[in-house]
Amino acid sequence: MPLARSLSVTSLSGLEEWDEEFELEDAVLFEIAWEVANKVGGIYTVIQTKARLTAEEWGENYFLVGPYVESNVRTQVELIEPTNPVLKRTIDKMNSSGCKFAAQSEEPPHIVAHFHEWLAGLGLVLCRKRQLPVATIFTTHATLLGRYLCAGNVDFYNNLSKFNVDKEAGDRQIYHRYCLERAAAHCAHVFTTVSQITAIEAEHLLKRKPDIVTPNGLNVKKFSAMHEFQNLHAQSKSRIQEFVRGHFYGHLDFNLDKCLFLFIAGRYEFSNKGADIFLEALARLNYLLRVNHSDVTVIAFFIMPARTNNFNVETLKGQAVRKQLWDTAHTVKERFGKKLYDSLLVGQLPDVAKMLDKEDFTIMKRAIFATQRQSQPPVCTHNMLDDSSDPILNSVRRIGLFNSSADRVKIIFHPEFLSSTSPLLPMDYEEFVRGCHLGVFPSYYEPWGYTPAECTVMGIPSISTNLSGFGCFMEEHIADPTAYGIYILDRRYKGVDESCNQLTSFLFQFCKQSRRQRIIQRNRTERLSDLLDWRYLGRYYIAARHMALAKAFPDTFIYEPHEPSSTTGFRYPRPASVPPSPALSRHSSPHHSEAEDDEDERYDEDLEAEKDRVNIRQPYTVTKNKTSAIPGADENEDDA
Ligand code: UDP
Ligand code: G6P
Ligand code: GLC
Repeated sequence: MPLARSLSVTSLSGLEEWDEEFELEDAVLFEIAWEVANKVGGIYTVIQTKARLTAEEWGENYFLVGPYVESNVRTQVELIEPTNPVLKRTIDKMNSSGCKFAAQSEEPPHIVAHFHEWLAGLGLVLCRKRQLPVATIFTTHATLLGRYLCAGNVDFYNNLSKFNVDKEAGDRQIYHRYCLERAAAHCAHVFTTVSQITAIEAEHLLKRKPDIVTPNGLNVKKFSAMHEFQNLHAQSKSRIQEFVRGHFYGHLDFNLDKCLFLFIAGRYEFSNKGADIFLEALARLNYLLRVNHSDVTVIAFFIMPARTNNFNVETLKGQAVRKQLWDTAHTVKERFGKKLYDSLLVGQLPDVAKMLDKEDFTIMKRAIFATQRQSQPPVCTHNMLDDSSDPILNSVRRIGLFNSSADRVKIIFHPEFLSSTSPLLPMDYEEFVRGCHLGVFPSYYEPWGYTPAECTVMGIPSISTNLSGFGCFMEEHIADPTAYGIYILDRRYKGVDESCNQLTSFLFQFCKQSRRQRIIQRNRTERLSDLLDWRYLGRYYIAARHMALAKAFPDTFIYEPHEPSSTTGFRYPRPASVPPSPALSRHSSPHHSEAEDDEDERYDEDLEAEKDRVNIRQPYTVTKNKTSAIPGADENEDDA
């Protein structure tokens, strides 16, 4: 019998020492999910962003299994021949005889099969029923019943222990799927979920407490220059401004430089994702900005895919008109340039009065005429198939935010995920997020919530809630999340109206910030990235796999959980400095220019970064020394 190999790991929230003697050469990892190379929502992001780290650990013994969707295979998959002989034989066999599974090696490897969500759960149940020698893990990213109950206006969190789960699933006609999910959770050697809040939900609704919580991470891009992500914000923002110029043609009576871009994005679950209270809060914000005579204009984007019949004509026309104005300006500029050149060639200064002639004015008048518009700029960019019953549009009708001139809050509903090939807003989602000022995700049901996490690593502040896995995680790890641009809305202990007031107040406070304060806040937000990096969070997946191997092959693998260490529950400290008030940090000189302002901002950014530096470097270390393996545990030490 091979020697038993051991792994040391503490439980959920402590980051701990690892016994690196745990060998995996003869083990193979399969990860199975409906969203492998098939984007639906956040599970795709889990798989896609985690792949690199997992491949680093498992090399050629790591396999992702997903549905065969021709278009996805063409665009996302590189076809290769398997090098592992066992696998090659298996695939050949499957191909030749339908889809039968046979692991036929003399000495089969130790297999770990990690199934995500109920859709893949059937494979897990069958593995166990057929007693295959496979270590199984089931990760649920939400519970089916939880999602359905929340979408139906139930007081979910106060009644978690009281639901008659079979009846509730039956009433919602999801009983068979519910049973599959519950069976997968119970059959798995190791059951995991993505957050503590969903762990509690799973315990009540699926009747099994998860063994490990595996929070979702991201691949954090490190820029060599500190300001790079700020520059990217400015570049992407100018592209969104371009879109806005077209969308609001004929109604550009607001200052684009004082315009803030807010957005909500994700699968279209109107109340679960909090689009309902966001709209209500926008109506209240509009009122506050108006009565306070604010010069700020807010444009709130809703990026949620719904059933549509392509872009609508008015929206496309907006971009065409903008393009035409641009071309006109360019033509006139060329004509102007030529006249100027001709005059200089004969040694004369130009006669300014003659630089624009009649024809130039005709060209310009014609272009301006095309910008005349009777209607308001549209709220929705597409033709909706369910226009009259669409919840976002119906709310907009109720609150009356129709993009009129008097409104300080404008709404743009883009019912399709973003794409860089769009004729309307040709940006991919990441570029769009970078160009916005604030992501607003006031979810009621959100096991994790990638969207605010993605904002954080791009240095864009966000609003999430204490009912989302992400919000709770950040609340647990940061002493003063708001100071870092992580606003966490209370939807747990407050009624809907109160939460909505709190959301309105967050938004209003945000609108009152100066550019300088926003820049500083973005720097702080971006500093939290390490906390969300797979390099740190990936270890929970590693622990789950090791635990499963030890349970499935107890003669070969031993898993030794430690007691949580005393440093469990670490919190990022408050930033060392507070954003300077605009009044205090302004120069006394009345001639202080815009350009100087930008210089000051840079200076303040550096100063701020320097002040906080001791707190941000090496937020965590993975060492063999038990005491310093917690994010930020060494916060008072200079890492120089
Ligand atoms: N997303 C996207 N394109 C968009 C809007 C959103 O790819 O135009 C992605 C976003 O990057 C995120 C995912 O959709 O990774 C949504 O995941 P989340 O966990 O927030 O919610 P889910 O839809 O899984 O409930
Ligand atoms: C970045 C750029 C600055 C720019 C600023 C605009 O920080 O580096 O040059 O002034 O963005 O910030 P705002 O919050 O107004 O979009
Ligand atoms: C689910 C959840 C979402 C989570 C994602 C990835 O779709 O709704 O909150 O972020 O899975 O775990």
